Amino acid sequence: MTVLEAIEVTKQYNMGEVLVSALQNVSFVVAKGEFVAVMGPSGSGKSTLLHLLGGLDEPTSGEISLAGHTITHLTDDEVTVVRRRKVGFIFQFYNLVPTLTAAENVGLPLLIDGQKIEKHKEKIGNLLKMVGLAERSDHKPDQMSGGQQQRVAIARAFVNDPEIVLADEPTGNLDSKSGTAILELLRESAAALHQTIVMVTHDPRAASYADRVVFLKDGRIVQNLTIEAKNGASEDIRNIMRVMRELEL
Ligand SMILES: Nc1ncnc2c1ncn2[C@@H]1O[C@H](COP(=O)(O)OP(=O)(O)OP(=O)(O)O)[C@@H](O)[C@H]1O
Ligand SMILES: [Mg+2]
Repeated sequence: MTVLEAIEVTKQYNMGEVLVSALQNVSFVVAKGEFVAVMGPSGSGKSTLLHLLGGLDEPTSGEISLAGHTITHLTDDEVTVVRRRKVGFIFQFYNLVPTLTAAENVGLPLLIDGQKIEKHKEKIGNLLKMVGLAERSDHKPDQMSGGQQQRVAIARAFVNDPEIVLADEPTGNLDSKSGTAILELLRESAAALHQTIVMVTHDPRAASYADRVVFLKDGRIVQNLTIEAKNGASEDIRNIMRVMRELEL
């Protein structure tokens, strides 16, 4: 089943005199439970693509649909609702609210959606358990390590049972051990919970946990690589690096 579809998506930024082409005719499909990594050099359009997929921005032309519904020609209010209910975001710098506890941060998307937190205590507890932070639910972000904060951010991204989780460099700010824990968590949630995930990364090792890697260059998809082991195997990392060399990424 297709969860996410981008059809001939183009994004241009009008910067006064110059037109910056961030994405050009990008088409791709993500199936339910797929974990897709997006790689490419700085400026190749990775974050732009993620923002468009999550309804944070609108394409100049083309169409994006999420769970069978187009999100491209909706009003701002309509797209906000889609984003709240159907998309989970994970960013490089966690973006937790510093004055809230781990549990409150996880519940925040529900609160913003007008739901009663009391009703979701058990779910929030289970998510914190899933990310290995059951003991930390009352801790504030500054009382946790970077890796722990990112795990709270992952629990938060899952709290609205999103159709898709979008992650922009989720391990970019972490040491290798904490990064591996995050990648294993994402891999596990795709495999066990059929959570659909699109993750932007610079790191071949991070990408080697995905089912496949989409390579972007100058705003276009230039290659699609299937990952065999999907668990950080050195063979897969070598394959990714070989494609990067061949494409001069
Ligand atoms: N708001 C904006 N206004 C104007 N140009 C933009 C804007 N956002 C991105 N761009 C341009 O679009 C292109 C793609 O940017 P994008 O942020 O998607 O790259 P990226 O692949 O995520 O890079 P990085 O790896 O450095 O994060 C770049 O040329 C960038 O300068
Ligand atoms: Mg980026």
